[in-house]
Amino acid sequence: MRLLTTKQIDWTFKTVSTGQFTHGFHQYPARMHPEIAKRVIEKYATDPKSVILDPFMGSGGVLVESMLHGNNSIGIDLNPFAVLISKVKTTKIDSKKLQKIFEEIMNVSVNDYKNKTKFNNHPEKIDLAFWYPTDPIKKLPILKHHIMKIKNNDLRNFFLICFSLTVRRTSFQKNSVYKIYRMKPEVRTDFNPDTFKKFSEICQKNIQNMDYFSSKMDSNAKAYTILGDSRDIHNQFSKIPNEVLENGKAHLVVTSPPYGDHGTTVAYGQFSKHLGLWIDLKEKDELLSVDSKGLGGKKIINHHTLDSDTLTTVLKKVKKKDLLYTKKTSLSNRADDVFAFFYDLDLCLEQLSQSLKKGKSHLCFVVANRTVRREKILTDKILIELSKKYDFKYLETIHRDIVNKAMAVKNAPENISNYSNETMNKESIVLFKF
Ligand SMILES: C[S@@+](CC[C@H](N)C(=O)[O-])C[C@H]1O[C@@H](n2cnc3c(N)ncnc32)[C@H](O)[C@@H]1O
Repeated sequence: MRLLTTKQIDWTFKTVSTGQFTHGFHQYPARMHPEIAKRVIEKYATDPKSVILDPFMGSGGVLVESMLHGNNSIGIDLNPFAVLISKVKTTKIDSKKLQKIFEEIMNVSVNDYKNKTKFNNHPEKIDLAFWYPTDPIKKLPILKHHIMKIKNNDLRNFFLICFSLTVRRTSFQKNSVYKIYRMKPEVRTDFNPDTFKKFSEICQKNIQNMDYFSSKMDSNAKAYTILGDSRDIHNQFSKIPNEVLENGKAHLVVTSPPYGDHGTTVAYGQFSKHLGLWIDLKEKDELLSVDSKGLGGKKIINHHTLDSDTLTTVLKKVKKKDLLYTKKTSLSNRADDVFAFFYDLDLCLEQLSQSLKKGKSHLCFVVANRTVRREKILTDKILIELSKKYDFKYLETIHRDIVNKAMAVKNAPENISNYSNETMNKESIVLFKF
């Protein structure tokens, strides 16, 4: 049989669901298609002892696929809400237990509603009447009260994630947009969600998928989810038990970094804020600082140039256009924003080179090119150029069309239709050997 090369294989996955196993437990911006992780893991993690690392874990799809393949994995993210989703998606729980608790929550909640019992546990910072119709305003606090009473952490977290998705789905938040954005008045008038019904549907689907996930797991592979910054992977690895890593090193990186700074691309913090507040995430400071602490969140003063000619050239063009904007706003120095992002990404690459077993490792980055001041930022090319000095040997780039992805571009301040769509509906899978 003739083996197909990576380029001859279809990477659009048009017919493959993104919600299989625990993948669809909760919405998260710019999720990686699980099939990409699956293929890369199957190709490069041939040793069951290989440890897989996702330094920008998001909602943990790479960790789920690593578990299914029988490999230990480590995920790092500075968003505590993402860490919670990932933890729930990678913690096996007996579905019968979940079903029993689900029925108990529903029984007591329906009773409380009938008896007009009130709980004052909604987040203070959120204007309920502005964001929710009457039904969820009455019922969400009841559900929350009963979920919070569950003593076992894993069980409580599972239902908190179902609750969080219910919060989003019953709110006036526009579903296809990741920034905080209210539905138009005419849509709001016709929006009458049934909160208990929504919660039940989400729980039933997630319990079923947990059952399927558990039935397909035939190893004891573990996933370690870490709340932390990937500009300091060394410190994050110190939180992992010694026996997991080979002399402190992992073997395969599978990841999709942010597109750019969170403020002007995908605002993961904005997406997570209301939900994290509703479920009383204890890492509140971290939750509220996701967008300022993410890659590119802080301007770099007195910097040197990075080792990428492509980046240097495009920065000059953006800077020239910046000068035409005399009005000073937070968006007047776009060249500085772009530089800050790549400066931080470069720090992560250096950290990765120190965290992987040399001669035995591979890296896979899923990135999208974007436009700033109508200039194309070729992230895939810049990544290849930056990686040279860390001895990552470039293998190949696979260009894939994205089908069905809620787009960052809809939120971008420079929403140039057609041009932006053309660039953002494609992504590049860049592969290296180390
Ligand atoms: C494109 S998303 C990852 C999505 C993920 N592959 C999934 O399928 O859900 C990028 C993630 O990087 C995280 N992030 C940004 N800067 C970070 C940093 N310095 N350290 C760790 N995580 C960071 C963001 O919080 C976000 O969750």
